[in-house]
Amino acid sequence: MHHPLQLAYLGLEVPDPSALSTFFADVVGLVPGEGAPAGALTWRNDDKAQRVIVETGPANDAEFIGFDAGDDGALDALVARLDTAGFAAAEGTDDERSARRVDRLMRTMAPWGVAVELTTGLEDAATPYASPLMPGGFLTDGVGFGHVVFATTAFDESHAFVTDGLGMAQSDWLEMEIAEGIELEVRFYHCNPRHHTLALAKAPFELPQTLHHLMVETNSRDDVGAAFDRAWTSGLPIPNGLGMHDNDRMFSFYVASPAGFMVEVGHGARTITDDWDDNRRYDRISAWGHQPLRQP
Ligand SMILES: [Fe+2]
Repeated sequence: MHHPLQLAYLGLEVPDPSALSTFFADVVGLVPGEGAPAGALTWRNDDKAQRVIVETGPANDAEFIGFDAGDDGALDALVARLDTAGFAAAEGTDDERSARRVDRLMRTMAPWGVAVELTTGLEDAATPYASPLMPGGFLTDGVGFGHVVFATTAFDESHAFVTDGLGMAQSDWLEMEIAEGIELEVRFYHCNPRHHTLALAKAPFELPQTLHHLMVETNSRDDVGAAFDRAWTSGLPIPNGLGMHDNDRMFSFYVASPAGFMVEVGHGARTITDDWDDNRRYDRISAWGHQPLRQP
């Protein structure tokens, strides 16, 4: 693993942050973060102070993602790498560092229109993560808090940003015809043992939301089943029922949040090793399942 980055946090902007609270807490099993900035609500799925930051605003989409570079030297090298690739990063302000609860923060804009923040020192929470809804907890140690998938019309430039700029490596890709003459293309990228921390889908035109989904991975397979039951009871759309992806072998389902983007709750994905040599094309999303159960 030449470049260990971890997904540190996801920043959302929605008209009413509290409209997502029941969803994150009672369906997904997140717990409130500590010391949310004014006008925002924060959530966490492990012992870090915050992992999802929900701010108030009209975008109704992801506004920023944060990556933890590990240490000062790694952050400096990452910024230099981005600069060489043509993506300059600017120093964050004191207010931004304090709102994100990090030591250092550099900021650049990804070609898919979401700010990318490169950080060190994401603060620990005062208390450990605990939720009766998620007794096994979430898998985040060394792999970041989950993965995020964005849809973009700037597909090639985004690929260059992720690989040349951020230094991630492509794990594999998906190319399939989803309807007569309509191709779906998704590229999956890793920067630590998680099969993908980031994936990009090629959008045929600008979509109302750039964020397709956020994935959180449970330590226990049963916790996915219990989360599925809660999603079912909630009445929220379940665009994909329980199933297993072909490429990362993740056992998961997808529930649509009240803001539109989805959350994938999964378990048991295979991991990337130093000698990863399985960067190949897949022609199906799932080995089984992931049927459309309840549409928006
Ligand atoms: Fe996913």
